[in-house]
Amino acid sequence: MIKKLLSLLFLVYSCTLFGQGPVSIIPAPVSLTVNVGYFVLDANTSIRYRNTRSELKPAIAFLNTALKNISGIALPVNTAKQKIIQFEIEEIETIGDEGYVLDITENKVVIKANTKVGILYGIQSLLQTLPAIRTNALLQIPCMHVMDYPRFSYRGMHLDVSRHFFGPELVKEYIDLMASYKMNTFHWHLVDDQGWRIEIKKYPNLTKTGAWRVDQTDKLWSSRPQAKFGELPTYGGYYTQAQIKEIIQYAGIRNVTIIPEIEMPGHVASAIASYPSLSCTQQFQLPLTGGNYTNMSSNYCPGNDSVFNFIENVLTEVINLFPSTYIHIGGDEVDKSPWKLCAKCQARIKKEGIKDENELQSYFIKRIEKFVISKHRKIIGWDEILEGGLAPEATVMSWRGESGGIEAAKMKHNVVMTPGTPMYFDHYQAGPEGEPYAIGGMNTLKKVYDYEPIPKELSPSDAKYVLGAQANLWAEYIATPEQVEYMILPRMPALSEVLWSPKEQKNWIDFNNRLQNHFKGYGQKGLHYCLGNFTVQIKPVSKDGKLFVILSAEVMNSVIYYTLDGSEPTIQSNIYSEPIPINVSTLLKSSVAINGRIMGLQAAKQNFVTHKAIARSVTYKFPISPYYLADGPNSLTDGVRGTNAVGKYWHAFQGNDLIATIDLGISKPIEGIALGCLQNYNDWIFLPQSVKFETSMDGITFTEIKTVVNPIDVNQKSVRYDFKANFPSQLVRYVRVSAKNNLCPNGHSGAGKPAWIFADEIIVE
Ligand code: ACM
Ligand code: ZN
Repeated sequence: MIKKLLSLLFLVYSCTLFGQGPVSIIPAPVSLTVNVGYFVLDANTSIRYRNTRSELKPAIAFLNTALKNISGIALPVNTAKQKIIQFEIEEIETIGDEGYVLDITENKVVIKANTKVGILYGIQSLLQTLPAIRTNALLQIPCMHVMDYPRFSYRGMHLDVSRHFFGPELVKEYIDLMASYKMNTFHWHLVDDQGWRIEIKKYPNLTKTGAWRVDQTDKLWSSRPQAKFGELPTYGGYYTQAQIKEIIQYAGIRNVTIIPEIEMPGHVASAIASYPSLSCTQQFQLPLTGGNYTNMSSNYCPGNDSVFNFIENVLTEVINLFPSTYIHIGGDEVDKSPWKLCAKCQARIKKEGIKDENELQSYFIKRIEKFVISKHRKIIGWDEILEGGLAPEATVMSWRGESGGIEAAKMKHNVVMTPGTPMYFDHYQAGPEGEPYAIGGMNTLKKVYDYEPIPKELSPSDAKYVLGAQANLWAEYIATPEQVEYMILPRMPALSEVLWSPKEQKNWIDFNNRLQNHFKGYGQKGLHYCLGNFTVQIKPVSKDGKLFVILSAEVMNSVIYYTLDGSEPTIQSNIYSEPIPINVSTLLKSSVAINGRIMGLQAAKQNFVTHKAIARSVTYKFPISPYYLADGPNSLTDGVRGTNAVGKYWHAFQGNDLIATIDLGISKPIEGIALGCLQNYNDWIFLPQSVKFETSMDGITFTEIKTVVNPIDVNQKSVRYDFKANFPSQLVRYVRVSAKNNLCPNGHSGAGKPAWIFADEIIVE
């Protein structure tokens, strides 16, 4: 009875109490019950499985190597011992092809599954209950019962090895990390403008020339000059077919399928540097050094049949190497203008009765798909392959948001979700102060954890076409293996939970608690990883006509400190515990501390400028753009002024006027009203033509005070301007501000089209 009671208690606390640390399996299993007692793994343990199950041999060898690395013990197989780790393949309902049941009691560990893949995942979960590195400590594994299977079948990680080359050792490490988190698909981006990375026996120049560029690693990617004739190409590398075979086998043992990406028809300057006849101009060129494409060819010529011969020969070697069902053919970001100028391309358009260059790309992809299907494989491509007509059996990787994926799923095509936000792991995950330089964007751990791969727009039957999701690691700004580790840890574990664990069981705090143990393991293994985002988020909120500030930080187990006098926060500053009232103009600064140490390089800061309409409700005649909600409906009375960057501070309107009414709550004497606006010429944001200021006592009848006509030149690139009316003091209850929208001016790329109005604050004095 007591034991039963105890085990009930333990069930409740199951995730935190036991073993050499908590049971902290990531991705969280479908069900996990920790019971009383331990299985002690020592020399009295053997592995048992049916000899007839030879398909289990690689998984068992994998387990034995891992255990030997941790304990120094090599477990005998099918030898009588006091304790056993037993494997059973048998039919188990509900857990599918990748699921497993792991049952740990004091004398026995049993892993059961329908397939060898499930067995391997049971082993991965078992390994997560053990230390990360070699130890002489007693290996006590808590008794537990786990039943587990994935939510999605496609759990992907991509790696760009073209922009920077990473050798086989890093690739294997990447695959190992993936497998430990039950990620099952490695998208290997082997071809791009700046380097061809796969040996093709029939075309040796692809790696003799196309894999090597003039080394400008000391310069920022975006500002690298093009190589000059005579400069030595010394940066690069490629994988031989023998190395690739070995990596495929290595991945296979870990249930990681490798999808090779052989880019086309664009992003192939490296192939053209190797064989100039592949491009429309057929001009000789040097491999690209970075992001400067001036006067370089990046596309194959689809007007030329010999180009298709070349690609088919390349794909034949690729298909002979890689056993994956999918071959990724790229398809993204093709600048089609060279095709407009090419006689062969134009002749192709005419001969095939094609409408335009978009359809020429579609012709290209469909022709390649036909070839790939003839080899009993399928194509997958970036969402641009939708343009001009999707190839009949293609799977779409949705990267420009989710819309391509939604469109393809509605057309009953399979889809992998990999939207830039939050699936691009080359974006910042914290900072950006104090973080390694990144391409831009901000995909924090929490944003990744909160990602839901099934868009709301899809019906349940169309949602089935979403196979899963993938994170992409583009390497323009990632030059070292250490940084590769840093960018995926711990965002990949977060993604693994998105893709594996039941949606309704996801729990950010619990994930963070489990993550602490993984952090410890990374540290012990010398892996580089990001500790989290220490930047404090500062959010103004209005409540009952008063302004408050809410502070929050993503990183767990932290204390938020703040100051209101402009000084830098220290651990002697105020500790944040509840929303902070803002009654006077204030500069707020805030930092996070962990274990008494201020984290992050710079405090977050925000200036608040108070006035008579602060925290008052704003009602709009026309709705604000859903893309520019700032910090909510009362952003124009939150005391926060915008910056020239089009970001979080602005409310925006396109096509409509901004007509805002503020209720001051009670009648007050006022003598000035202003509306703060932004002009950013390149973003189609223009100051309003004019701004009318009105007041009222009853909210029905308004009296115009003044209309201010825009005095600023429409051609000014970027400017902030306050439209203002000052007047003798008068008692008012309501204020109305009407800003008249503009059209984009003559000479602008949007000339005659509706411009945007951006406003940050209505200031009432
Ligand atoms: C991509 O990021 N160009 C697919
Ligand atoms: Zn051409």
